[in-house]
This record gives sequence, structure tokens and C-alpha cells, in this order.
Amino acid sequence: MRILERHKILERNATLLLVFSFLVVTVGGIVEIAPLFYIDNTIEEVDGMRPYSPLELTGRDIYIREGCYVCHSQMIRPMRDEVERYGHYSLAAESMYDHPFQWGSKRTGPDLARVGGRYSDEWHLDHLRDPRSVVPESIMPSYGFLEDRMLTGEDIVQRIRTESMVGVPYSDEMIQLARADFMAQADPYGDREGLEARYPKMQQRNFDGNPGISEMDALIAYLQMLGTLVDFSTFEPDPTR
Ligand code: HEC
Repeated sequence: MRILERHKILERNATLLLVFSFLVVTVGGIVEIAPLFYIDNTIEEVDGMRPYSPLELTGRDIYIREGCYVCHSQMIRPMRDEVERYGHYSLAAESMYDHPFQWGSKRTGPDLARVGGRYSDEWHLDHLRDPRSVVPESIMPSYGFLEDRMLTGEDIVQRIRTESMVGVPYSDEMIQLARADFMAQADPYGDREGLEARYPKMQQRNFDGNPGISEMDALIAYLQMLGTLVDFSTFEPDPTR
């Protein structure tokens, strides 16, 4: 075989092998990457997705700060066991406003991508205070201290502005009203109409049952909205994407 004879030259010459390996990898890379520059969007658009409300975003920051992602994923794979346990598989669009995304790489605890609405606020409160009180065999740490850490929303406008700088489509109105919206979502008598117009399907109530807005309120608000934005009874995947 003449071609194999010639291949020997490559195999015996380290520099040449390096140069040719580099060429092969480059061609492979270009084939994979170049098309991405010619399509507008790699994410299928899905009805219902919207940026996080100020309170939800704050809860998400607490989720990241406390390292919940170390034990929990937020990415349901399209395999039967996962779909039967957690619900519809995750869509790319569902994390398109996530900076950074929370797909996770380890499941010490269950996936949380669709945990919203699965339990009551009281359950979450009991569970976060003392996981063993509701799941006796749980190894999850307690997070009761979140109840005592009060929030004023003083930095929420800058926080939302930062998200908008990295491409999350918050309008000027949303940015201006961020602090008011932050307060209103945890207050059952707050401006519900305005909040609903800006953040459809947001849930408004006193999440931890205590006066004032604590980190617990924000975290439960975030958990309760996870996976609730897209209506999967009407969602049709687009097979061309
Ligand atoms: C050391 C790993 C670990 C960490 C860190 C952790 N969890 Fe958990 N979590 C678990 C385990 C294990 C379970 C399953 C047993 C249970 O329900 O307590 C669980 C269950 C849950 C559930 C119930 C899910 C379901 O579908 O039943 C929620 C909600 C939850 N965790 C939220 C959080 C939040 C929020 C944080 C961060 C503040 C967090 N967890 C941090 C291990 C962890």
C-alpha cells in the first residue's frame, strides 16, 4: 500500500505530524464553527420566555451564591426516564436569559428545571429551613438563615442594567421600575397589573409569610417560577431547527 508507506513519513517525523494534525483539527473546527456565523440564531424561539423579574433574579443570585448548582442540575435530558420523572425535556430557549446558565454537572439532589409549582411555598420554607423535616433521609444542608437576611432592593437597578448589558432584553421601563417591581412582587397588595404586563406569569405573594422581603422570599420566588414560563400543552418542536 503506497499511501501507508507515505504515512510512515508522517509517523516518523514529529514536527510534520504536529503540522498535519493541526491542519486536520483546523479544517474540522472551521466546518463546525463557520456555519454559526451565517445563521441569525441557534436557539429556537419559544412562546412564553421572558427575562427574570427583579425578585426572581435576586433569588437566582442567592441560588448561585449558596452553591445550589453543586448538587442540583437544571437540564432535563430528552430521555424517557428523565422526562417521566421531571417533565418535558429542557429547551435551549429556556436558559437563553441565564448568565451564567445553571445546567449543572452533578445531581446529588434532583433536577430543578421544572420544580416551580410542584410544592407549596410552605413546603419550600420547611425544606430550606430543615430538609430532614420533610424528607427524613435528605442530605441537603439547611438554609434557615436566609429568612433573617433582609433585602431592600437598593442595588437591583444596577443588577438589571448589568443583565441588559450582556443582552437580556430588559426595556428602559423595566430598568426604571426595577426596585418598585422588586418590592411589589413580594407584597400581595403591590401593583399586580404592572408586574404582569412586564413579567407575564410572575407569581406575586408573600413567599415566606414573614413581614419584609428576605432572601428566603427571593429564593422561593425563583424556585416557584422554574420551568413555568413555557406552556408545554401548546408547544410544538420545530423539526427543521
Ligand atoms: C449537598 C447537596 C445539596 C445542596 C448544596 C443543595 N441541595 Fe437541594 N437537595 C439535595 C438532595 C439530596 C435533595 C433530595 C432530598 C430532599 O428533598 O431534601 C434535595 C432536594 C431539593 C429540592 C426538592 C426537589 C424535588 O423535586 O423534590 C429543592 C427544591 C432543593 N433541593 C433546593 C435547593 C436549593 C435552593 C439549594 C441551595 C440553597 C439546594 N437545594 C442545595 C441536595 C442538595
